[in-house]
Amino acid sequence: MNAAHKAADLSALRQRAIDAARQAYAPYSNLSVGAALRSARGEVYAGCNVENGAYPIGGCAERGAIATAVQAEGKDFRLAAIAVAAFAVDGTPLPVSPCGACRQALVEFGADAQVTFLQADGSWIEVDAGALLPYRFILPEQ
Ligand code: THU
Repeated sequence: MNAAHKAADLSALRQRAIDAARQAYAPYSNLSVGAALRSARGEVYAGCNVENGAYPIGGCAERGAIATAVQAEGKDFRLAAIAVAAFAVDGTPLPVSPCGACRQALVEFGADAQVTFLQADGSWIEVDAGALLPYRFILPEQ
């Protein structure tokens, strides 16, 4: 994929993440998060955060999207890119960055994947998944 295609691709993915955030169930934090990923096959899968009154069992948007991708593509799923966006109840963009657990989940499927996330000023950070998690845990082979 050339640079222009890559840029267009990310902007479509970013819009899908913004759309996904509208589906969030976040009555406790009031932070609506949406994620949209593109698999190596070129398919797009989205997720949103789903909270719970038993707080710790709530789930992040990124891992929701990954679960949907694995359900669709099976064990061969590889992550090419993921966009993440978060909004307050009034629709104001709030800065977001994948949490530590989500970073570990991202690198499992693609340490070279592009990760892009929305900032409060409307700009998007862009970084490789692996760069978000140096010295990450890798299950040793025995
Ligand atoms: N959240 C995500 O969905 N993704 C992240 O990477 C960070 C946090 C959600 C979880 C919770 O529903 C809300 O944001 C506040 O932590």
